Amino acid sequence: MQQITAFAPGRVELLGNHTDYNEGYVLSAAIHYGVSATGGALEEPVARVNSEAMDGTVEVPLDALTPRTGGDSWANYALGVAAMLRGAGHALPGFSLGLTSDLPVGAGLSSSAAVEVATATFLKKLAGLSLDPLELAKLCRRAENEFVGMNCGLLDQVSSVFGKAQCAVCLDCRRESVRNIPFPADLALLVTHSGVKHALVSGEYNERREQCFEAARLLGVLALRDASRAMLDAARPSMPDKTWRRASHIVGENDRVLEGIHAMENADGEAFGRLMFASHESSRLNFENSTPELDALVDIACGISGVLGSRLTGGGFGGATVSLILAGEADRISGTLADAYHARTGHTAVTYLCRIADGAH
Ligand code: GLA
Repeated sequence: MQQITAFAPGRVELLGNHTDYNEGYVLSAAIHYGVSATGGALEEPVARVNSEAMDGTVEVPLDALTPRTGGDSWANYALGVAAMLRGAGHALPGFSLGLTSDLPVGAGLSSSAAVEVATATFLKKLAGLSLDPLELAKLCRRAENEFVGMNCGLLDQVSSVFGKAQCAVCLDCRRESVRNIPFPADLALLVTHSGVKHALVSGEYNERREQCFEAARLLGVLALRDASRAMLDAARPSMPDKTWRRASHIVGENDRVLEGIHAMENADGEAFGRLMFASHESSRLNFENSTPELDALVDIACGISGVLGSRLTGGGFGGATVSLILAGEADRISGTLADAYHARTGHTAVTYLCRIADGAH
């Protein structure tokens, strides 16, 4: 059997928290940690998926690709991609696929999108499919929405597909346009896992999504992308406080992404870092998707020299922070941060110094 290997990176969200499903803007970067998918074609018309981390194999006939439940549900990210490809009219041969990953699960680094994109990249090559990169990213998102049942936006899959070494990914979710912006060479990204897993599927994420849609409805706009600070100020007396704060977070995040693009284009790490701190503060107060552990990490990072900015990354409710730091100071900064975090919370943080990497290949 001829072997094919595809790799898809995880991502960090740099600015633009929960803006994607509000048709807004996001800045992210693909990182060098990710998921590899290796395998080949089979004679039998089945999808056979194996995961090193789950220590198991799931085999399903190609014409009966429905979501697995219970202990096999980890396979849904890969099976869902095969199902979406078939649903879109792409013929697939039977295949066997082995997944390995060095991405921490539940850290908010999009391990699930990396599985989807690695699987899609593998199947595209195996079956000789013609799919442009945006189509591939959107198909992976559909697998997550419709097969896995998680109503995420397009950020994770686009970042994993369109990442570029030493560049940020800038996504306009309404126009579905993507571009890369060079990342300052003297800066680095330090991801710090709080050691407390996030629970996106537990409903918090979907609840925030609904609150944002409700805010858009009350403001009379199609999506929060269309709301401005002036509209929010005018609507404040008539809107429930919680709904108003959710909208305020999204409007603020969209503004911060646009300012962040400007800062990054001018290699102004200090300005970018300030936006990251402001983003976290808005998560904490307005969107309420932070945790005491993430707050502690950001607060400690703020007091360490060489840290320019820090915020939670991804969905929130646990997981990791991303800090923008001086590249030459990474060892000192990560050691100080982890020690102080342990002393303050009793939890053990794991730090990942991330190289900004190319997208799936
Ligand atoms: C998760 C989702 C993304 C995005 C982020 C928050 O990572 O999968 O689509 O909504 O949360 O910005």
